[in-house]
Formats: sequence, structure tokens, C-alpha cells
Amino acid sequence: MIQVLSDKKVVLGVTGSIACYKAVDLASKLTQAGAQVDVILTESARRFVSPLAFRSVTGRPALVDMWDESTHVQHVNLGEEADLMVIAPATANTIARLANGMADNLLTLTTLSLRCPLLIAPAMDGGMYTHPATQANVAVLRERGVWFAGPAEGRMASGLSGQGRMVEPAELLGKIRQIAGRNGVFKGQHVVVTAGPTREALDPVRFITNRSTGKQGVALAQAAADAGATVTLVAGPMRQPFPVGIEVVNVLTTQEMHDATVEAVRKADILLMAAAVSDFRPSKFNNQKIKKTKAEEWGMAIGLERTLDILESVKAQRDATGRPFIVLGFAAETQNAFEYGRNKLIRKGLDIIAINDVTAEGAGFEVDTNRVILISSDGEVARLPLSTKTAVAEQIVNHLAKMM
Ligand code: CTP
Repeated sequence: MIQVLSDKKVVLGVTGSIACYKAVDLASKLTQAGAQVDVILTESARRFVSPLAFRSVTGRPALVDMWDESTHVQHVNLGEEADLMVIAPATANTIARLANGMADNLLTLTTLSLRCPLLIAPAMDGGMYTHPATQANVAVLRERGVWFAGPAEGRMASGLSGQGRMVEPAELLGKIRQIAGRNGVFKGQHVVVTAGPTREALDPVRFITNRSTGKQGVALAQAAADAGATVTLVAGPMRQPFPVGIEVVNVLTTQEMHDATVEAVRKADILLMAAAVSDFRPSKFNNQKIKKTKAEEWGMAIGLERTLDILESVKAQRDATGRPFIVLGFAAETQNAFEYGRNKLIRKGLDIIAINDVTAEGAGFEVDTNRVILISSDGEVARLPLSTKTAVAEQIVNHLAKMM
């Protein structure tokens, strides 16, 4: 379930391209996200994929015929009630018809009755997308406020390579989230999120780091984006897929995360400091791999020095410029979580702190769930129930929205 899409009515238009098979996956992903999906196929789409395939994943009849006598002005109902319409794949022919306001099948008829945003994912081969006729039609539709996703570059069905592939369903889903959340509680806000660990090298092959996977931070970036924010994610090394439509700055060391974060928050409204920053780094870096025969020279011990405290620098900048307006920090603790967390809130000049007992069951590193206590600078305490990191992120965003 995806909060921003749950109970949304999505009309998915499918037109005649081999990329139709990807539309089935998209319909499935949207349904799993909690949306009610009504699929309309054109006659040519039907030659590539059967309505039954869509019915099977959406649980609702897929529509083809505009002369169906069993329903009354179906296109008007679909168009008026939809929260979003997506045409994926959209052929050059359908794009041309839409640009000219034609209404000769159920899909184009419905598009003319729409009261909601329309997203088009073009798919076409052999240079048809870059043809001046298609480009002119796309320009007309953009001018009318239609959203576009792709087409992507790559290999096409003909074997040719070029711009014409339909964007992948996962990416389209991200774009759909962006449109669905555009008027959310963070509309107009620029949010910077830090996530993941940092890494401090001993030599070119070894480093010190921590167990952070970046999951909670990436979930926060996604929740902020779903709430309509412009998001910059400062990401330490991690394997998480990034949300669609956000800016990502990849960093490795604490120094790099420090510089990227201080720069990013200069014009930002909110900072969500979820990264597990390395507090120490080896006091010397060996340019070559340290050989075990030379280990004695190192005294068999790693000398460490302190790294910068990023929130300290953010506080100094904020005292001078006022930005960011809201700063949320995390406290990862293994004992006395509440007390240590409250001290960090004060010491780091935060507006709110999310305290994590990383040793608690179902919380902390390398798990999908988390249990967090929020303390605000005015003393308000909110104990969030054990839930998925996604749900924790959504609750934090809602909590901040109330503070704003
Ligand atoms: N943090 C930071 N810069 C650091 C270390 C931590 O900005 N060099 C941020 C973290 O991203 C988090 C908050 O400070 O939002 C608290 O981090 P935590 O690791 O819990 O605390 P520390 O500051 O490292 O303090 P302690 O060693 O006492 O736990």
C-alpha cells in the first residue's frame, strides 16, 4: 500500500505498442499500491494484449468498446471521477489525436472529459518521436498542462536504438506518486534529507563504517516527496533504490556529507538528518594497501580522530541565516535512549528529535520496521507505534506538517 495512492481512482489508457506488456505490470503495481484502476484499451492495444490480462491484475473489467450499451455515458463518468489518468504506452497516433482534440474511441473520448491531471508515457520506434509532427503534438499537449514521462533512450523493438522506449513501470509509478502528492502538506517546501552511513578509509581497500542501510532516510525522502516537497537526498553508500523525481547527492565520507548538507540547506526549509554519520576517522590514511608484514609499524592499532559534527555546522549557519526553518535529528542509542535523546535535542539545537533504541526488538539497523519516540523542543512527546520504516516516515512528515 502506498499512502498517496490509496483509494485514488486511476484511469490507465493503453494504446497499440509492444510496450503494452509493461502496462500490465503498471496496472498491477497501481492496484497493489491501493489505487482503483480502470483500464481502457484501444483496438490496436487489444491486438498486443488481452483485456483479461488487465482484469486479472486490477479485479475490474478492462474497457475497449465505446458502443457498449450496458453502461451510460461511460467516458464522462470515468473522466469526471478520476484522480489521475495515465496513458502508457502512448503511440504517436494517439498523441496526434489528443493534440487535435479528436474523440473517436473510448480512450480519446474519456481524455476529453477529464477533470484531473493527465500523464503520457510515449512509446514509438524508428525516429517517430523526434519527427517534427510528433514533437509539435507533444509541445501542444505540454502547453495544455499534460505531464510526460520519457520516452527513454535504448533498444527498440525494431532493433534500432534511439529515443522511443516507454519508461519502466517502476519509474512511471514514481512519477504518478509525484503527481498524486503535488498538493500535499509539504507543497512548496524544499526538504533536505541525509541517509545511510558514512565511510572513513584506512587505505584504498579498507574502511570504518556502521550498520546503517539508509532505509529510514530513504523512506523519509519518499514520504516528503509524496507530500509534495522538492527533495534533496544526501546519500551515503547504500543499496536502496532512490525515489523518483528527487535530487540525489552521493557522498562517502563525513567531510563530504558535511559539505553537501551545509550547501544543500542554504536555501532549504527543512532538514531531516537521518544519516548515521561516522564520528571518527583513522588519523592517518595509507595511500597503498597496508601489508600484513607492515602491520607492526601501525602498532596493530588504528589511531582515530574526530570528524565534524554536521548538525553543529548547520546550527551555526542557521543562527546566521535563519535557514533551514525546521531541523529534525535522530538519536541512535543503545541505553538510556530517552535521556540521551533529549540531551541531543538541546545540545544540537534541534526542533525535534526522533529517538531510536537500536537494540529494541524490530527497531534500528537492517530491519524493515522501527520504533521511534519524537520529542519537540517545546517538550511535546509522541511515542510512535512499532511500524514499517515507510509508515514511521509518513508519521514524521505528518507530525512536522502540524508544527509548521
Ligand atoms: N550527526 C551529525 N554529525 C555527526 C554525527 C551525528 O550531524 N558527526 C547527527 C546524526 O545524523 C543525528 C544526530 O546527529 O541526526 C545524532 O547522532 P548520534 O549518532 O545519535 O549522536 P552523536 O552526535 O554521534 O552523539 P553520541 O556519540 O553521544 O551518541
